[in-house]
Amino acid sequence: MNKAPTVRLDRLLANLGYGSRREIGLLARAGLIVLDGAPVTDVGQRLAAGPDLPVRLQIDGEPLDPPPGLTLMLHKPLGVTCSHKEAGPLVYGLLPERWRRRDPALSTIGRLDKETSGLLLLTDDGALLHRVISPKSNVAKRYQVTLDRPLRGDEAGIFSSGALMLEGEEKPLLPVSLDVHGANHAAVTLHEGRYHQVRRMFAAVGNHVLALHRDRVGGIALPAGLKAGDYRILNTEEVGQIFD
Ligand code: URA
Repeated sequence: MNKAPTVRLDRLLANLGYGSRREIGLLARAGLIVLDGAPVTDVGQRLAAGPDLPVRLQIDGEPLDPPPGLTLMLHKPLGVTCSHKEAGPLVYGLLPERWRRRDPALSTIGRLDKETSGLLLLTDDGALLHRVISPKSNVAKRYQVTLDRPLRGDEAGIFSSGALMLEGEEKPLLPVSLDVHGANHAAVTLHEGRYHQVRRMFAAVGNHVLALHRDRVGGIALPAGLKAGDYRILNTEEVGQIFD
């Protein structure tokens, strides 16, 4: 029979960003690490790495941070960058400070431009990240677009042709569907993620994107109640819906 994987308590906490293993030892000495209701004395003990850890373990009176296998949705506001290292406000700055020290690290699943808002998924699960962005998975992404000029009427045909070539590229875009919502408003749904794709597609048909907002990735829609800058952890079922 397979035994559940175990993890050393001090290693787990260090990898969740609570401090070095030495600092974890000091936290325990101060009685600030509580497991199943009792202060921990042996930080080298091994624990079953189950999803119940935040219920069993409290650190300084707070439930343990989500263990590895963390996936979340963030409502990305305008003006923040999807990068670990660029200057200026970063999406990681919208998450709890300790989460920036997690190992495995949280990364965005794909990127949104600094001036694009909406649904951004993040995960520390590298296999999941690759599965979502893999062309094989064919995950659809929907964007609400506000345009500078009224639509001409021929854009849907051009975008869905599978023949549109963006400037500087050698392969045409996969077909993109366009739903017109008004003279200067439309939604586009695409299955790839080339650099500045939506802005460049509209530039290719003589228009200019004034505002861009992603409201859906696969079967996950940005909830109306999730305000710009807020995030929510996804459960296993919701992670599966990305591929619906
Ligand atoms: N297309 C863009 O042009 N920008 C984004 O952020 C996403 C898709």
